[in-house]
Amino acid sequence: MSLVIHDLSVRLGHREVLTGIDLIACAGEVTAIIGPNGSGKTTLMRAITGELAAAGGLSLNGRDIRATSAAVMATLRAVLAQATPLAFPFTVAEIVRLGAEVGGSPPTARVIEHALARVDLAGYGARLYQQLSGGEQQRVHLARVLAQAGAPVGPEGPRWLLLDEPVSALDIGHQMMVMRLARDFAAEGGGVVAVLHDLNLTARFADRVLLLAEGRVAACGTPVEVLTGPRLGGVYDCALQVVALPQGGMLVAPMAEAG
Ligand SMILES: Nc1ncnc2c1ncn2[C@@H]1O[C@H](COP(=O)(O)OP(=O)(O)OP(=O)(O)O)[C@@H](O)[C@H]1O
Ligand SMILES: [Mg+2]
Repeated sequence: MSLVIHDLSVRLGHREVLTGIDLIACAGEVTAIIGPNGSGKTTLMRAITGELAAAGGLSLNGRDIRATSAAVMATLRAVLAQATPLAFPFTVAEIVRLGAEVGGSPPTARVIEHALARVDLAGYGARLYQQLSGGEQQRVHLARVLAQAGAPVGPEGPRWLLLDEPVSALDIGHQMMVMRLARDFAAEGGGVVAVLHDLNLTARFADRVLLLAEGRVAACGTPVEVLTGPRLGGVYDCALQVVALPQGGMLVAPMAEAG
């Protein structure tokens, strides 16, 4: 069971923002989408969720995404958008409840509290969303997404977490916590596609990496295949080195400045 993207293109206004994108993301794995600002990561996620019109092939668990109803898609995948502005004074519990309802789980107090505990927000249910810190707000949306997804595998097969920059507002401890949640979801048979800017989290947690540059695939493969100093340096336009760590894994770091 997989997410299959074939020769996908997206036009926004007069611009072709994505061109000829191919990707196979497998359930049981974490797939990272990386690339500089404006390279098309969010546009690709919005095409995958069916929010944007796109040309080319797009299927999830063998279903054509654009021929599947929104209600069915909501039971197959849960989406964390890059930005989720909320204009009304919702409580934390109300937002997480919405996720459970959309995903078809009974929105019980237990389901809500469990989702909040998983993102280290136990006891936050009655708080007003607007009165939380940026990182806490991001974790509320993650709890909503987890409540929507439910178990990693459902009656229709693997479920998917589609996460656009899930750790952008988080401290290092909570970044690790959220990436472990993603790994565990995949280890239990679910699929995870996450947009990340942190190349070290990508190296550590991703099974496959799609590197976008100016709306095209610059590279796709395992972290070891994709994350090389010269390639990353070229795409991000800065001198980068990739250092193998003695305990395994690797570290991506800027080169020392001359002088
Ligand atoms: N509605 C739109 N009309 C025209 N161009 C758009 C529109 N939305 C986005 N773009 C352009 O599409 C390109 C890709 O945007 P996208 O949001 O996918 O980038 P991104 O890789 O997610 O970047 P970031 O890391 O900053 O989130 C950008 O150049 C952006 O300016
Ligand atoms: Mg983006």
